[in-house]
Parts: sequence; structure tokens; C-alpha cells
Amino acid sequence: MKTAVVFLSMKGETIAPGMKIVNLEKGYTNIMAEYIQEVLHNDLVEIVPERIYSTDHFQMINEAKEEFENNERPAIQPINADIDACEMIFLGFPNWWATMPMPVFTFLEQYDWTGKKIVPFVTSGGSGFAHAIEDLKKTCPEAEILEGLAVLGHEVENEKKKIQDWAWRVYQEEEMKKNLNDFDSFKNEDALNFGLKVCEIAEREYKRQVRIRVVYDDVIVFQYLTGDLVGGEWLDKKEKTVKKTGKSSICTYYHPEEFKEIQGDNSCAMFGGGVPYLINGENHGAFIVSGLRHREDHDLVMKALESIKKN
Ligand SMILES: Cc1cc2nc3c(=O)[nH]c(=O)nc-3n(C[C@H](O)[C@H](O)[C@H](O)COP(=O)(O)O)c2cc1C
Repeated sequence: MKTAVVFLSMKGETIAPGMKIVNLEKGYTNIMAEYIQEVLHNDLVEIVPERIYSTDHFQMINEAKEEFENNERPAIQPINADIDACEMIFLGFPNWWATMPMPVFTFLEQYDWTGKKIVPFVTSGGSGFAHAIEDLKKTCPEAEILEGLAVLGHEVENEKKKIQDWAWRVYQEEEMKKNLNDFDSFKNEDALNFGLKVCEIAEREYKRQVRIRVVYDDVIVFQYLTGDLVGGEWLDKKEKTVKKTGKSSICTYYHPEEFKEIQGDNSCAMFGGGVPYLINGENHGAFIVSGLRHREDHDLVMKALESIKKN
């Protein structure tokens, strides 16, 4: 699914807790945007206002207040990405006067959001999104607004894991809705094509060899093990996780509370790489990859499924 991380952020002077002025080399929202981009491997796009705000922080705050009070649409530099081609946009901004900075409104009004999903994220001095979500919905009513995340600006570096887990979970849950793992009937060539596609993508994008298995009604219908068999037992563990839970193994990592039955069970694996093989919505087996990092294993399965579904 084509996505982009679009953000506005100010470097330079900002207020830290205790009303202390600090000088940032990189704005907090910019840092958060980079964390998201690190897990989604997508375009990172900055919204840059044409005007130059004052380097004096208190004066800058007043300039932004004036824009807000006059409901201005300050000009922005051309956006360096094909937003029309994206299905999903992670949209990040600092909270300015309890809503989005006015140049973000300018950005939003440049596009047709029909059929697109927006995942908002904000950094703030304490009031989180405040009115931003409401204003986002009003500005682009055609877009589907997904679960956002608010982080305190000065805490952004401590929240890296939370930010990355949230971004990846939201992305992945949307992708699963596309039912790329659901087929009309079982065909051997689907299993074979899946395996070949995984090898091709692993070699091209990850430069790694992986282990692959497709199981259908308890029969291994495709399997590929590289020369190094160490770690081959992960295929068994992921297969068992999918069979016992009926869900992707990555799902058990993100929602452990829902899968108590396999917690502490060493014969299962609660991380990515196992995806149910559905026939008309019914669980019949699993597509499994191991050898990369856990989100990457899951991503690889989904990329291969998307590719064979397209052809
Ligand atoms: C013009 C302006 C208005 C702000 N208004 C608010 C506000 O209403 N509520 C709040 O919690 N923080 C407010 N802040 C603090 C910022 O949201 C916070 O410092 C943010 O993390 C800055 O992100 P950045 O470094 O990416 O620009 C404001 C900051 C600026 C510059």
C-alpha cells in the first residue's frame, strides 16, 4: 500500500518544560516523522511555509496566532511527492494554538482526499491534538481519519518504541483489511508463485536468504530452506501460532492480551512472518517466512501475496 509521511515542524527556538527556551537542530515532529519513516520505508515529505517566521520564539508564536485568528492559508513550497498516488498519509504537525498550523490547512486543501486514509500525529507542549482532529475532519471530510498518536514534544525521543509500534500496527491493520491472503480455491501454483515471489523480493529488497513454507490443510505444499538450516524451527512455531489463533502471528505480538492461550508456549512464536491461508474467509493453513526481522518477515509475506494477487 503506497504511503507517505508528511509533516510540518520548526527547528530553532522552542519552549521546554519550565518555560526554558531551547534551540533544536531538528523539530520534535520532524524526529517523530523520521521514526515512522524508519519502519514504513516510505517517502518523508516536509511541508515548508514560504514565509520565514521570526527566530525569536515569542514573536514567532504571535505570528502564528495572527495567522490562526485570521484563518489564513499561508503559501507553502511545492510538495515533493506524488500525494495523489498514496492510499495512506501519515500527517504530522505541532499543536499550534490548539489546532494544526495554518500551513497544514493549506496543504490539505490542495488535494482530493476521496478514498484516502489519513493517520494524524502531533507533538505538543501538553494539550495533544486539542481541536486538530475535529478541524482535520472538517477540512477533508472525504478522507478516512484513522487512529492518531499524540506525544509531548520534549518526550519524543523516549517514545520511539511506542511511536514505531503504533505506526506499524495501524498500517498493518489496514493492509490486512485488503484480504490479500484470501483466495477462491486452493491452487498449487498459488503456493509455488508465492514461494518464488518471496525469494525474488528477499534477494532484491533485503539481500538475505529466507526460509519459506506454505501449509494447506496440514500438508506442506511448498517449502524452501536455504543451506543454513539454523532457525528452521521458526517455521514450525509460526505455523502453530497461526493454526492455534487463526490470526497472523504479528497480530499476537501487538495484542498479546488477546492471545493468552499461547503466551509462554515455546512451540509458538508471537512475532511476524505467519499469515493465515484463507479460502473464502475460512482458515485453511498458513503462508510463512522466517529469516528477517519480525516486521520484515510479515511485510515480505504481504508483498509477495500482493504481487501474486495482482497477476
Ligand atoms: C505557535 C505555537 C503555538 C503553540 N500552541 C500550543 C498549544 O496550544 N498547546 C500545546 O500544548 N502546545 C503548543 N505549542 C507547543 C508545540 O506544540 C510543541 O512545542 C511542539 O512539540 C513543537 O513541535 P516542533 O518542534 O515539531 O515544531 C505551540 C507552539 C508554537 C510554536
